[in-house]
Amino acid sequence: MAALKTVPAAEVRLGMFIHGFEGSWWEHPFWRTRFLLTDLEDLQKLRAFQGGVIIDVARSQVAAPGIDTPAAAVGGGEEAGATAALPAATAKRAIPESPAARFSTEQAQAAALVAGALDTVRGTFEDVRLGRAIAHEKVAALVDDIAGQLDRNASALLRVLQLKSKHQYTYLHSVAVCTLMVNLARHLAMDDEAVRTLGLAGLLHDVGKVAIPDAVLDKPGRLSPEEFALVRTHPEEGVALLREDGAMPALAVEVCLHHHERWDGNGYPHGLKADDISLPARMGAICDVYDALTSHRAYKRAWLPARALGAMWSWDGHFDRDLLFQFMRSINLYPPGMLVRLASDRLALVLDNGGRATRTRLLVFHSLAEDSALTPRSLVLTGGAEEDRVIGFIPAEEAPSAIPSLDLYPPVAVTN
Ligand SMILES: [Fe+2]
Repeated sequence: MAALKTVPAAEVRLGMFIHGFEGSWWEHPFWRTRFLLTDLEDLQKLRAFQGGVIIDVARSQVAAPGIDTPAAAVGGGEEAGATAALPAATAKRAIPESPAARFSTEQAQAAALVAGALDTVRGTFEDVRLGRAIAHEKVAALVDDIAGQLDRNASALLRVLQLKSKHQYTYLHSVAVCTLMVNLARHLAMDDEAVRTLGLAGLLHDVGKVAIPDAVLDKPGRLSPEEFALVRTHPEEGVALLREDGAMPALAVEVCLHHHERWDGNGYPHGLKADDISLPARMGAICDVYDALTSHRAYKRAWLPARALGAMWSWDGHFDRDLLFQFMRSINLYPPGMLVRLASDRLALVLDNGGRATRTRLLVFHSLAEDSALTPRSLVLTGGAEEDRVIGFIPAEEAPSAIPSLDLYPPVAVTN
């Protein structure tokens, strides 16, 4: 049986068996929670952790402060310093998990985060609906947890968020838009406070839907004109609710009010055009539609990310195109048929990746540096630091040489 003792991170030493961490467990610096601490680098990372570390005394090679264990005699007692040499048998690194095990750990962490987030968002919407004060601290902590998970493994989190069931849709959609907003804001190099506020705005952008009957929101068929008019009131309903909260940042209210405005002025509620729509609201519009398209709904199946982006890219006048391009870069996905400029000053056509959305397949066909056509050659972007990368896009009508036909390059088979 585990004999557990919590010690401050500063008192952790090599040879202790780490059982877990206090507080929000996805905040801790390790992806494996239970292991014998034998590595100096791990020790340094762990000491930077703010909070208590739970030690399994019985499995430790050294004593925890204030506890005498038989194991202490093997690895040294209190006087043994943090850098003391361990017996040869214990001085090797903890055995790392296999890639498959690590993948499922990350997926499980993302799923746990989303489950907790769902409760927080449901509670927050309920608070707003009933006119209670919003638990700002709880919501801010959630946005921080989402930002932390994005740092560790963005694709695991985004994958979990695509799996929405009908009844959770509005809440999970809120968590997804929050996640995409944080990701995009960071990609745009915004400061931490802006990132956090935009995450909050993403969480609350659809809060006005609490005023719309579920029968209308979840209706499987087409909405009648009256029902559609009712749905279109949700931005203003949301603002009325958010204004009840004196501490609500103006930017969150702005995203709530204007996330359905369109670049060409055909959006609602105010029909604002282009730059008259604030940047946060333009960001909200893109994240909102992308998540809606890639989610299962009562009336449609989820689209693959590349299909959703392809459609969004083709809707003239709907979004701020430069920002949409930045969004594509932030999630590392480009729609097939798009022409992109590479850091190597070459031009490439985005190929269909057959649903393997995280690796963009390109066909390089023109050198911009030499202004000459190249023999088409395919290239897969894997995100490595050394490789070529996409730095811009070029409208098809401005292509300097003939664009290869997509039909000649069919999608690759999905192997996983
Ligand atoms: Fe909305």
